[in-house]
Amino acid sequence: MNAEFITNLIYIVSSILFAFGLKNLGSPVTARKGNILSAVGMFLAVIATLISGHIIHYQWIIIGILFGSVLGALVAFKAAMTQMPEMIALLHGCGALASVFVDWTAYAVHGSTDLTNSITLYLSIVIGGLTFTGSAIAWGKLSEKIPGKPILFAGQKWLNIGLISAILILGVIFILNPLRHDLFLAILGLSLFFGIFLVIPIGGADMPVVISVLNSYSGVVACTTGFVIHNTLLIVVGALVGANGIILSIIMCKAMNRSITNVIFGAFGEVVKKKVSGEKKEAKAISVEDAFLILENAKSVVIIPGYGLAVAQAQHAVRELAEFLEKNGCDVKYAIHPVAGRMPGHMNVLLAEANISYDQLMEMDAINPLMENTDVAIIIGANDVVNPASRHDKSSPIYGMPIINADKAKTVFVLKRSMATGFAGIENELFYYDNCRMIFGDAKQTVQALVAEFKSGQQH
Ligand code: TAP
Repeated sequence: MNAEFITNLIYIVSSILFAFGLKNLGSPVTARKGNILSAVGMFLAVIATLISGHIIHYQWIIIGILFGSVLGALVAFKAAMTQMPEMIALLHGCGALASVFVDWTAYAVHGSTDLTNSITLYLSIVIGGLTFTGSAIAWGKLSEKIPGKPILFAGQKWLNIGLISAILILGVIFILNPLRHDLFLAILGLSLFFGIFLVIPIGGADMPVVISVLNSYSGVVACTTGFVIHNTLLIVVGALVGANGIILSIIMCKAMNRSITNVIFGAFGEVVKKKVSGEKKEAKAISVEDAFLILENAKSVVIIPGYGLAVAQAQHAVRELAEFLEKNGCDVKYAIHPVAGRMPGHMNVLLAEANISYDQLMEMDAINPLMENTDVAIIIGANDVVNPASRHDKSSPIYGMPIINADKAKTVFVLKRSMATGFAGIENELFYYDNCRMIFGDAKQTVQALVAEFKSGQQH
């Protein structure tokens, strides 16, 4: 058995582990197992590559592994849960950049071997280049290093059309003259530029989909790089990442009622922010003591978590409150909106951290028919995902986005600090509904105060 045979054998095992890993990541119950399977797959893949017999210099690889591991560990330990989406954007960007470096090295050492090689090389640097800068901009927007709102300027559309045309025309010339290093560099430079101009005009509620689309692109570029360097594992893994990224993007688009083409070519659109129109009503606040009296008599409660739950880190307090309600004979469920929070599965991860049973978590389609018979909906740090304007206000930027129908419950409590808007930057008419009461304050402190009321109620 030679080294190449063993490497290919391990690559097959790795591919299977990646496929099963992804499958397991599809449900919160098996996600941990999925993560471990994928990590083992990656470990085996790295070992197999190191023993493949194709390594020229080990010292640079060791330096790279040490530097990358230390940097990665530092960033991961430092990043708060709420910074996870921007961290994901950064990781995709680094993945794409790594692929571009591999392509560049392969081209510098071997040139282009045939037509297929030239085409995949071209696709690799274009997608890799724009994914790198696009991800960097997404990171900047999410971490508020640059304005999160759409950045628009006159002639933007024509600039983008010009960039795309130049990339296509130079691409054809490069494929026909694959030894033109100047064209290789020009295409890479233009693609890097294009990534910036592709993402800066996208803002507001589209950003999660952009991250997911860039995730898919980073998979595609890994796949094309696999073709460039004839590495089957890279082709398989890239295809898996590319496919799962695009599937996730489509799911998120549906959840936000955005069309995928509109998001990908979002540079040509503009997000319009809107305020609640018509006569302005007063939002009614309620004290924790009065809210407790209503909750004490409730037979069914649906808790709707949102981004504010993550900010307040209120998940443990929420579990405690739910336990008191249940002891009181109340049925408690959690309604999970697919884009609540700032990343896919954000709420599931938070609630799992507080050991809240998966059986109690209900997806939007399952919970909505039950809302009319719910005594109290407690909205904890959610805003956009419960905005009823999406059902009827055609001029609202979130019109058509499926929401959790919290407003249909007999009573609605909204736990937030102020009347401030959420991620989409639009006011929420629910706060002015007759059955809605605001409980102002940090979500964790409010929930802890409610728990304290239950505790003192037990003592009397
Ligand atoms: P948002 O609409 O963003 O609203 C969050 C609310 O939490 C804010 O109105 C804020 O109001 C409140 N809040 C913040 N800190 C708080 C604290 N410490 N205590 C209590 N409340 C607090 O959240 P959502 O309803 O979860 O909707 C998610 C939004 O993000 C959607 O527009 C979605 O499209 C977008 N998005 C989603 C994702 C994914 S994949 N999940 C990724 C990126 C963006 P106050 O300031 O008044 O407290």
